[in-house]
Amino acid sequence: MSKLDTVFSIKEMRELAKAKLPSVMFDFLEGSAEDELTFTWNKQAFSKYEFVPRVLKDVYKIDLSTVVQGVQLKLPVISAPTGMSRMFHHEGEKAVVRATHKAGSAYALSTVSTCSIEEVAEESNGPLFFQIYAWNDKKMVSDFIDRCKHQNYQGLMLAVDLPALGKRERDLRNGHGRPAVLRMNTALSALSKPGWLFHFLSKPKWKMANMVDHLPHGGDALKVIDTVNAQFRSDVSWEDAKEMMEQWGGKFILKGIQSVDDAILAKELGASGIILSNHGGRQLDGSPAALDILTEVKMAVGSEMEILIDGGITRGSDVIKAIALGASAVLIGRSYLYGLAAGGEEGVSRVYEIIEDEMKRVMQLIGCKSLSDLGPEYVKKRCNSI
Ligand SMILES: Cc1cc2nc3c(=O)[nH]c(=O)nc-3n(C[C@H](O)[C@H](O)[C@H](O)COP(=O)(O)O)c2cc1C
Repeated sequence: MSKLDTVFSIKEMRELAKAKLPSVMFDFLEGSAEDELTFTWNKQAFSKYEFVPRVLKDVYKIDLSTVVQGVQLKLPVISAPTGMSRMFHHEGEKAVVRATHKAGSAYALSTVSTCSIEEVAEESNGPLFFQIYAWNDKKMVSDFIDRCKHQNYQGLMLAVDLPALGKRERDLRNGHGRPAVLRMNTALSALSKPGWLFHFLSKPKWKMANMVDHLPHGGDALKVIDTVNAQFRSDVSWEDAKEMMEQWGGKFILKGIQSVDDAILAKELGASGIILSNHGGRQLDGSPAALDILTEVKMAVGSEMEILIDGGITRGSDVIKAIALGASAVLIGRSYLYGLAAGGEEGVSRVYEIIEDEMKRVMQLIGCKSLSDLGPEYVKKRCNSI
């Protein structure tokens, strides 16, 4: 019996991940900006809602399938783009894409991944999105777009919430925003996790895999981190988004929308979708939880443009609440990373199994058979919540 079989919740998976990772890697995985208020709000937002369960509805068969951005999903839980996944497990993004597709969902690859656009496509058996930035080096960005076209990625997600890097104090303490593997405290924390250290020392070096041809030192992640950080622009505008959308010519999603007005602008731009997201609380501390603005955004943009949300999703019930309030799908970040750190591909698979099982159970308990039947009548704000 594997240890993963005795994990029954994402909370327990988090504990297993914490036990396996050096503390500085766990801090990078979990940490968020400044006082980590938004990180806390993301989770709390879901407990502001209670269900309105209906009974005697014949819920023998539950259908969690849906179509998002034109792709068929077995369940509406997409693996969010997260950079540098090999920090958490030596197989990194390859393990995540395999497990996500086995679960019947879609994977979004980060620009700053440790496996490349091509390597992930090679491992893939389902829908792929690519998260992109409007960076200084336009030629490199244009090259990413061409490579995604060539590998049949289904859509681009432009991250719009990084005009500056969030102040992540755990990372600053651990190594000034760098992965910090060479610092003394990192070395000490790694020594206490021999399993992780063995793979770190015996496997190929972490690379900024999408950029090896564009960066010095063969893209060695520890050597080029400052060069990569210098790519971020604070003058990115709606014009840049339009230019990129036109060059791509396919499904184009803005990731990191945090206000009703910007959701309206995204619709006017002609984006095929938006992700209400505060980057898991890693950027602006004090930005709203996506669930807290979902209803208002939905009212403002109507149902022509798909709205996805992320942040703080750790339970099947969280997903059901989001869909009931109007989201087409959700993305999970840390939840699958806990699984990755705890057990690689199998760990991510177990995360998907847990969330799917919880979703089915909740659907039965609220008396709703399919996602297309799920609407706001199944949830209401708790009396004492603001
Ligand atoms: C370790 C880590 C790395 C991330 N890297 C990226 C990234 O490279 N690009 C991006 O758009 N979002 C990134 N995100 C944000 C996620 O895509 C997503 O918005 C967030 O994790 C959702 O919140 P959750 O972790 O509470 O589920 C990252 C999040 C984490 C935890």
